[in-house]
Amino acid sequence: MKVNTLHENDIIEIILYTCFAFLLMGIVMVLFFYFSRKKIIQKELEKKDLEIQYQKELLSAVIITQEEERKRIAQDLHDDISSKLNVVSLNSHLLNTPNLSSGEVSEITANIINLTAKALDNSRKIAHGLLPPVLDKFGLHAGVEELCLEFSSAKLISVNYENNVSFDILDNDRHLHVFRILQELMNNSLRHGKATLISILFENDKDGKICYYSDNGIGFDIANHKNQKGLGMKNIESRVAFLKGTIAMDSSINNGISVVFNF
Ligand SMILES: Nc1ncnc2c1ncn2[C@@H]1O[C@H](COP(=O)(O)OP(=O)(O)OP(=O)(O)O)[C@@H](O)[C@H]1O
Ligand SMILES: [Mg+2]
Repeated sequence: MKVNTLHENDIIEIILYTCFAFLLMGIVMVLFFYFSRKKIIQKELEKKDLEIQYQKELLSAVIITQEEERKRIAQDLHDDISSKLNVVSLNSHLLNTPNLSSGEVSEITANIINLTAKALDNSRKIAHGLLPPVLDKFGLHAGVEELCLEFSSAKLISVNYENNVSFDILDNDRHLHVFRILQELMNNSLRHGKATLISILFENDKDGKICYYSDNGIGFDIANHKNQKGLGMKNIESRVAFLKGTIAMDSSINNGISVVFNF
């Protein structure tokens, strides 16, 4: 009988230990899930913070560019238009001076005609910079064609442009962003990349249009550059975001740059 009781005690002890082990395992698992969940939530919050920070940077880039653009327009208006109109106004008042000889009158009139022509020419140039008329009238394809011509006319760079997409002129407001993106990319290729060849290709994509851009310039270390994006690149990104598209950029030293974005 005594042997039997001992055996029962052993069994109870084993059951108790097993229960305790399960309980311990349960507690460890609960703690593990609790802490790993907390870590995941923390990581997600950090990611959200980074996204917000990035959006803020994009927004401030847009605001800074807008302010610079305003400053530039104000300067152009002041130097190229207002100053000329001032002299025109002065000359017009001079015409009221009594006893002017006919030679003086014709000199003042020639001056007025000359200055108004210059002011007109300058105002046209300023307007073209704000919205290229060819883009406005004939759409993105013609606008990019003209841009390529402007760049290649300097003979320092040649541009391969191919377009397999038909652009709706009604979408011109959106297409102006594509035009500005290409303008910035081309400026960078010339200024930083010292490129001699630029390629631009438009293709239809499954849900929109896609643009392939590349140059043969000196390139740059894109990993390094990520920390020091200038306003130009930030603007490109915010324009692509505005177009609800995505952009991928690749570059390395001596390998030029290649950019793909859809819109
Ligand atoms: N095609 C390129 N070839 C070589 N380097 C480039 C090219 N495009 C950009 N970079 C590098 O990336 C940097 C950031 O370009 P980004 O256009 O943002 O600024 P930026 O041209 O220096 O100034 P901003 O455009 O504001 O006048 C450039 O300073 C340059 O070092
Ligand atoms: Mg730039």
